[in-house]
Amino acid sequence: MATPLPVLVDVDTGGDDALALLLAMASPALEVRGISCVAGNCGLEQVVTNTLRLLDGIEAPPVPVAAGMDRPIVDAGLPPPALHGSDGMGDLGLPGPRRRALSMHAVEFLRDALTEAAAPLTLICLAPLTNIAMLLRTYPQVGEKIARLYAMGGTYAAPGNATPAAEFNVRCDPEAAAIVLQSGLPVTLYPLDPFVQVRITREEAEAMTRAAGAGARIAGGIALHYCRYFGADFSLIGDAGTVAAVIDPEGASTVRSPVRVELTGGATRGATIFDRRLWAAEEAEDGFSEIEVVTGVDAPRYRRLMAAALGVEDMLGD
Ligand code: RIB
Ligand code: CA
Repeated sequence: MATPLPVLVDVDTGGDDALALLLAMASPALEVRGISCVAGNCGLEQVVTNTLRLLDGIEAPPVPVAAGMDRPIVDAGLPPPALHGSDGMGDLGLPGPRRRALSMHAVEFLRDALTEAAAPLTLICLAPLTNIAMLLRTYPQVGEKIARLYAMGGTYAAPGNATPAAEFNVRCDPEAAAIVLQSGLPVTLYPLDPFVQVRITREEAEAMTRAAGAGARIAGGIALHYCRYFGADFSLIGDAGTVAAVIDPEGASTVRSPVRVELTGGATRGATIFDRRLWAAEEAEDGFSEIEVVTGVDAPRYRRLMAAALGVEDMLGD
C-alpha cells in the first residue's frame, strides 16, 4: 500500500464539503492532517459545528479542526445559499457535536501544520479562499511547505453559479481568490466545468441512506436533500470531485492556462478569466498567472472511487 498523501482541507461545510470530507476521511490514499473552517455556505460558527458533527457521525479519529475567517477580506460575504438547507448541511439532524475545535485560529493552525511538517503538504481548498489568502499574506514563507494547492472554484468555460459570470467560492471573496490563484504557487483549480459532471442519482442516494456504514448513510442523506431541493432525480458530489482529483489525478483532464480574477467588473466581479485564445502568447498577459485547471473528469471513475471509499460499490453503479 502506497504511503497516504498528507493533506490539509479548508472547508465551508456545506453539504458538498461534507461529501468531500467523507471521501477524504475514508480514502486510504489520504491522511487528513487537519481541517480549517471558513465562512461561506453558512456562517463560520455553523461551518465549524457542521464539520465537527460530521466527524462525530463517522466516529472519525481526533483530526484537528480550527475556525478561521468569519468574513471575506473586502466584501461582507454572500447570503448562505438556501440549497444547503437551514443548517447548511442538508438538515440531517445529526447530533452533537461532542468533539471541539481548537482554540487557535485556523490561519495559525495552518501555519504551524505546514511549518512543522517534515515535507511539503497538499492543501485541498473547498471554500472561499479567505483563510488561505490570509495565511499567504501573513506568513509568506509557508509557501515553501505547500506541495500543491487544489482549489474548488471558478469556471473555465462554464457559466457561473453565484452570478452568471462567477462561481460561489470565488465570488464570495474575489480578493482572496486573486491572492491565491495569482500567488505563483503550484495551483490546480477544480472549476464548475468538472464540478457538475459527477452525479449520484436519487435512487442511489435513497439506497445509501440504508447502507451499513454511517458515512454512506450521511452521504446518501445529503445527496437526497439536494435531489429534493432541486426536484431532480440526481445530485452532484460537488466538492468531493476535488478530493477525487487529488486521490486519482489520472481521472481528470487538466490544462495549464493563464488566469486572472476579475475584481472590478459590475456584472463580472469574481469571474475567473482564463486566456483560452488559440494564439495566447507564450508569456501570460499582465495580471494573469499560469495555473493547472481541471477541464473535465471521468465521472464513472470518480463515482466508483466514492463508492469504494464509502463501501457502497453495490449501490453506486457505473
Ligand atoms: O460553487 C460551489 C462551491 O461553493 C462549493 O464548494 C460549495 O460548497 C460552495 O462552497
Ligand atoms: Ca464548499
